[in-house]
Amino acid sequence: MSQKIDFCGETGRCQILIDESMSQLSAYLAGQEIIIITDDNVNRLYSQLFTPAGDVIILQSGEGTKTLLTVESIYRQLLRVSADRSTFILGIGGGVVSDITGFVASTFMRGLRFGFVPTTLLAQVDAAIGGKNGVNLDGYKNMIGVVNQPDFVLIDFSFLKTLPAKELVNGFSEIIKCAAITSRDLFELLEKESERALRLDNDLLRRIVDETVRIKTAIVSLDEKDMGQRKKLNFGHTFAHALEKAYRITHGEAVSLGMILAANLSVKKNMLAEAEASRIRKLLQKFNLPISMKVDCDKRDRIVEPVRQDKKKSGQMIDFVLLKSIGEASVERLSFSEVEEAIDDLCES
Ligand SMILES: NC(=O)c1ccc[n+]([C@@H]2O[C@H](COP(=O)([O-])OP(=O)(O)OC[C@H]3O[C@@H](n4cnc5c(N)ncnc54)[C@H](O)[C@@H]3O)[C@@H](O)[C@H]2O)c1
Ligand SMILES: [Zn+2]
Repeated sequence: MSQKIDFCGETGRCQILIDESMSQLSAYLAGQEIIIITDDNVNRLYSQLFTPAGDVIILQSGEGTKTLLTVESIYRQLLRVSADRSTFILGIGGGVVSDITGFVASTFMRGLRFGFVPTTLLAQVDAAIGGKNGVNLDGYKNMIGVVNQPDFVLIDFSFLKTLPAKELVNGFSEIIKCAAITSRDLFELLEKESERALRLDNDLLRRIVDETVRIKTAIVSLDEKDMGQRKKLNFGHTFAHALEKAYRITHGEAVSLGMILAANLSVKKNMLAEAEASRIRKLLQKFNLPISMKVDCDKRDRIVEPVRQDKKKSGQMIDFVLLKSIGEASVERLSFSEVEEAIDDLCES
C-alpha cells in the first residue's frame, strides 16, 4: 500500500507518494499533455515505461549537466515541441534531473506545472523533496535556483534495483544524517535492519523512506526559504563539500566523513557521549560508508581552505551542526581552529 504525505508550503502544495507504482502515473496527471525530462542512463533502462506518455528530452547524465547552458537548450526544445502554459513537465531521474527540471519548469513562460519521479535513493529522500531546484555556475554548486514545490513526487522503489551500489549508499548516507539529527527511532531501525535495507526489502524501505521524507518536510516547512532551521540538514556537509572538492569521492562518502568529524567535535565539546559517536561510526560502516581517510599533506590545505572561506563569510566563527545525542542536533558557533583541529584528527597522514 502506498503512503501519501501532503506537504503544504509557502511555495506550493506537493503530494509525496511513497511506494507508488509508476504505472499509476496517469492518475496524478489529470489528462494534461506532458513532456518528460530524463538522463541517458535512465532513458536507456526505462524508456519503455515513459515514451508512450509524451515527448522526452534526454540529458547527458552527471553533475556537469547542471548548467545554464543545459537549461537554455531545454527551453529551446520546449519551444520546438510547442510547449505552452498548459504543458506539464515531468522529471524522471536522479537529483541532477529533478534539480534541472524544477528550475526549467519554474521559469519557462514564468512557470509551468511539474512533478518528479525520482529514480535514485538520494533523490527519493532528499533532492526531490523540499522544493529547492537549480543549477551550478562556474563550479559553484546550486548558485542559480528557485524554491518552488512540484505538484507531486512519485516514489517507486522498483527503480532502485538497477542503481549501482555506490549510488544506493549515497542515499543511505543522507538517511543516516536525518536519523542522527532528529530521530533516534529511525537510527535504531537502521542499526537493526541494515542488511535488509541494503537488500532493498520493500516494506522496510517504505518505513525508512516515509520517516526520512517526514523529517525533511517537517524541517523544510519550518524554514522553507532556508533561514535557520534548515541548517540542521547540513549536518556533516560543511566538511563534505570541502572534501568533495579535493578528492574524487562520492557525496555520500564525503557526508559520512563529515558526520564523523561533526560527531567527534561534539564529543570534544562535551555535548555528545563517546558511546553515541561510536554508534554513528558503526552504523556508517554497516552501510559500507567510510569513517576515516588518508589525506596527503598537500591536500590538507585544500580541505581546510573552503572552511576558512566559510569563516570569512561569518566573521571569526563558523556555524557548525553538532549533536547533543543521536536524534538531537544543534547549530553551534565554533572557532576556525577548533574545526581545523578536528580535520587533522580525522585525517591519517
Ligand atoms: N534540491 C535539493 O534539495 C537537493 C538535495 C540534495 C541533492 N541535490 C542534488 O542532487 C544531485 C545528486 O543527485 P543523485 O545522487 O540522484 O545523482 P544523479 O542524478 O547524478 O544520479 C546518479 C547516477 O545514477 C544514474 N541513475 C539514476 N537513476 C538510476 C536508476 N534507477 N538505475 C541506474 N542508474 C540510475 C544517473 O544517470 C547518474 O549516473 C546533485 O546535483 C545535488 O546537488 C539537490
Ligand atoms: Zn547531501
